[in-house]
Amino acid sequence: MSIPRILIIGSGAVGAVYGHHLAMAACRPTYLIRDTKSDNSKMPRTLHRYSLVGKKIDSRQQHLRTITLGCTGWDQVWICLPSSAIESPWLLKQLALLDPYTPIILWSPDFRDRDILQKHYSGPISRALIGIISFQTPLPGENTPSEGIAYVAPPRSAVLEDSEAGNQAAAWLKAGGLPTAINDNLALHEARMTALLQPVIAALEITQWSLKKLRQSQWLSVATKAAREAKAVGETYLGKPPSRSIPGQHFLLKTAISVAPTLLPFPLEPYLRYHFSKVSEQTRIMLDGWIEQGKISKLPITSLEALRSALP
Ligand SMILES: NC(=O)c1ccc[n+]([C@@H]2O[C@H](COP(=O)([O-])OP(=O)(O)OC[C@H]3O[C@@H](n4cnc5c(N)ncnc54)[C@H](OP(=O)(O)O)[C@@H]3O)[C@@H](O)[C@H]2O)c1
Repeated sequence: MSIPRILIIGSGAVGAVYGHHLAMAACRPTYLIRDTKSDNSKMPRTLHRYSLVGKKIDSRQQHLRTITLGCTGWDQVWICLPSSAIESPWLLKQLALLDPYTPIILWSPDFRDRDILQKHYSGPISRALIGIISFQTPLPGENTPSEGIAYVAPPRSAVLEDSEAGNQAAAWLKAGGLPTAINDNLALHEARMTALLQPVIAALEITQWSLKKLRQSQWLSVATKAAREAKAVGETYLGKPPSRSIPGQHFLLKTAISVAPTLLPFPLEPYLRYHFSKVSEQTRIMLDGWIEQGKISKLPITSLEALRSALP
């Protein structure tokens, strides 16, 4: 069998990790980059994998091929970009250079991304949910690990849709040592997960990235209500009736915020500040998307609007 060729669009923290595990599975991943001067396109680079317990780090060199122009001949194309890049002229130009029916695996989080992309691309698009946590190192204010990209790979590090391309992608990543899962209604699952997370991230930004301030402020309960609103909007958009909310969501969130920093092998607060500042445009796009879609479906959106207007 010939070696699978995968084009990864986006060579940042997420693309780096998935590319590494594809290479470990004897695939041939190649990065399509927009800027040869970006730190994200420098090769070789070091990947640091944290163990889930004990804070041990296993560091490996990554040296994969990079190209600057799309072309034909790929088995799959993986889009590892933020949602803010999905309709960028650069991406649309690159997609037009692919074989028109190459399967795309779409990792960006917004619940409307597939529909948006499908307007510009006629081939099959499979959704995928990122389960890793990865970031450029060292984080601001930290000294270790050394320059590179660090990551944690929990169970379900990559959740793929139950499609031909999704199953194939999951099999490659699994062969490359990454825990994966298949979900037969991933679009809905992902819409619910992002609805839970993104309002809390917006509230954290409003409280100057301080978990303590967030825990003590009224913004946590605004985020809890906004999460319910976003979930209902996402479910309605995907043709499902709004489901019941998790009982005690506010309490669970407050507990998670207190406990999570002690469980993770890296400093959570600096990571959250660093990562979500990097993708701050995406946070705003996602809130705007829920608000817009909520108005169309005539669903409550007052807490989402409160978060959006308090964001700097
Ligand atoms: N990292 C995590 O732990 C994590 C976890 C869950 C979900 N995610 C999601 O995964 C996505 C990628 O995150 P990441 O951490 O990999 O981000 P990242 O490290 O900043 O990498 C983003 C990549 O996308 C490229 N890019 C950004 N904006 C672009 C645009 N407008 N047009 C073309 N290319 C663009 C960047 O290119 P340049 O290098 O040229 O800037 C870079 O290669 C985001 O949606 C994020 O929310 C990340």
